Amino acid sequence: MAKKPKSPIKPATRLVTAGRDSQAFYGFINPPVYHASTLLYPTAEDQVAHRSRYQYGRRGTPTTEALEQALAELEGDGCAGVALLPSGLAAIATALLAVAGAGDHILVTDSVYRPTRNFCDGVFKRLGVETSYYDPLIGADIAKLFKPNTRAVFVEAPGSQSFEMQDIPTIAKVAHDKGAVVLTDNTWATPLYFRAFEKGVDLSIQAGTKYIGGHSDVMIGCVSANAKTLPALKNIVYTMGLCVGPDDMYLALRGLRTLGVRLARHYQSGLTVARWLAKRPEVLRVLHPALESDPGHKIWQRDFSGGCGLFSIVLKPTAEKSVYAFMNELALFGMGYSWGGFESLVISFDSAEYRTATKWAPGGPTLRFHIGLEDPDDLIADLEHGFKALQAAK
Ligand SMILES: Cc1ncc(COP(=O)(O)O)c(C=O)c1O
Repeated sequence: MAKKPKSPIKPATRLVTAGRDSQAFYGFINPPVYHASTLLYPTAEDQVAHRSRYQYGRRGTPTTEALEQALAELEGDGCAGVALLPSGLAAIATALLAVAGAGDHILVTDSVYRPTRNFCDGVFKRLGVETSYYDPLIGADIAKLFKPNTRAVFVEAPGSQSFEMQDIPTIAKVAHDKGAVVLTDNTWATPLYFRAFEKGVDLSIQAGTKYIGGHSDVMIGCVSANAKTLPALKNIVYTMGLCVGPDDMYLALRGLRTLGVRLARHYQSGLTVARWLAKRPEVLRVLHPALESDPGHKIWQRDFSGGCGLFSIVLKPTAEKSVYAFMNELALFGMGYSWGGFESLVISFDSAEYRTATKWAPGGPTLRFHIGLEDPDDLIADLEHGFKALQAAK
């Protein structure tokens, strides 16, 4: 057993110690990567009784256990266990399948990550689960949307691409009073900056593909559950035969050790670039809840202790070709989906295409930035060239 510190430890320390038991692996710092399917029992009696610490590769290995334990320790009080899935979207779908079935109704924020919506409108609809989308700013009024069969409320803060903040503790209180559970997509803040279980969430999901992996080379997802929801979550994971490849789990575990320093840098550089963008004459608005000017800032300040490198901007109305000229001019911002790696990214998006409970009319073209680990001065210089190209293309 690893030695236990005699005093309480802080999150940065926990990232280093969580899920580690070097003495179990001959003193080596990191657990081995177990490539495993079959496990051999020593005797017929053991085989018949399934008497073994591990059962089968799909049901978990010491590598699985190390990552699950590390993530659970990071979540802290209120987390009863973690399930690993092969992508962030698989984690979302699995968590939803754990809480609702035929004849049930769920409430999902209109600002949700679009593929979550696709799952609800596709698979869930086919299985007989009804989804109602709600205004992310709804707060306590969400009570009015409950039906007798409402089993779950899905929140995501800040909203995907649009960055609205949700009053999660208020929504959770209403949901619990009505007997429903609360799921959140906590990929943006991670457990370091949003303590989901302390705020009333029952199932907290992360696309580990983003900041946990941190290097744009792994797909993984995780769901952290409280005691009330863990049995249903594990049951669906086991019965669906869901598991993650050992090398991907290892990369996630390795990424986790540096999550704290990377995230702090992404967040600080992101704020530097966001503040600079807010002053640009071409920019109408920056959508980032950590900025004092943001409509969701008060909620962010109350519930979150940090953020990451992801935010959006609304440009003043301008032709599509000038937006593309801006993007094409950038040398340090790749144009690609996903985020959370060491590199900066930009995408153009339009949430109006799919919103149903609210109208998305930001007042100009919208771009989402991911600020990587480059020096923010270089990123700002690159953006300056982009704005010159935007002006020239007008
Ligand atoms: C907020 C959010 N949640 C979940 C996901 C899905 O993660 P994955 O790409 O690992 O399926 C993404 C991916 O972009 C995301 O942005």
